[in-house]
Amino acid sequence: MSFDNFTYKGATFCVSVHSEEILKKVEDEFQVLDDDIFNITYPKSGTHWMSEILNLIKQNGDPTFVNSVPMWSRSPWYETIAGYDEAEKLTSPRIISSHIPYHIFSKSFFKSKAKVVYTMRNPKDVIVSMFYFSKILKLFKEPESFEAELENFFQSNGMYGSWFDHVKGWMQMAGKDNFFYITYEELQQDLRGSVVRICKFLGKELNDEEIDSVVKYSSFKVMKENKMSNFTQIPDDVLDKSRGTFMRKGVSGDWKNHFTVAQSEKFDKDYQENMKDLNIKFFWQET
Ligand code: A3P
Repeated sequence: MSFDNFTYKGATFCVSVHSEEILKKVEDEFQVLDDDIFNITYPKSGTHWMSEILNLIKQNGDPTFVNSVPMWSRSPWYETIAGYDEAEKLTSPRIISSHIPYHIFSKSFFKSKAKVVYTMRNPKDVIVSMFYFSKILKLFKEPESFEAELENFFQSNGMYGSWFDHVKGWMQMAGKDNFFYITYEELQQDLRGSVVRICKFLGKELNDEEIDSVVKYSSFKVMKENKMSNFTQIPDDVLDKSRGTFMRKGVSGDWKNHFTVAQSEKFDKDYQENMKDLNIKFFWQET
């Protein structure tokens, strides 16, 4: 397995997962369908959680599908070598996962009625989650220290490019009818209310019992036990399960256990500088 990365239109990708050929196909050739639903995030922001929620909504709360088909087959990451063909073959309405930055998203999307659900997370928690994930995912080079992970975040050379570019890029869609954004923290604070809002955006009418079922089967506790969602099926040469689990803590604010006061203050200053042009206060800034 190779740790080598390459750059495609300003964003970093990993040779063991991506290729320039597939990224070009994603951008220029992929035929987005009007009823496609894209689950888009920057890595470690709640991608799998949202995938579970969307698939359960699609099945009216029935867990049979999420309990029997692995996450990566239900909603593949279509920008990956392994996921592109699988995504094309999904049954409509297709739920497609992606970390792709806005500026290289499929051109055909912009002529379609397809919808995007964009999930963001407090970037301090994204860094912590990525720090631990990099220790277990053998595709990534293990960070030397938490400090190094933090520095990396601001170097724009992290996987899929910079968090700031990702969020600012996708938030250009805010206000459009086919774009819905939500934060990991909102899901944490009010999962049921969030599911109701997502259903409304998707035009899906679920009754109370069906909504309760979506909430139940997408909870951290249940997903952690679901072999089709918890990554325990991934071979050890890809995910070193002796060093941790994918379903790690599933909480908001774990950054407080990792950032020093100085690191947090510096982060806040750099964050303000990088985000000064975006006039949106995110939920995690209020809690
Ligand atoms: P932690 O590492 O902080 O625990 P992604 O899916 O984008 O890779 O994000 C992974 C993060 O989402 C991990 O965070 C994981 O534990 C968390 N997560 C996954 N499913 C979740 C759920 N049902 N509820 C809360 N957090 C969840």
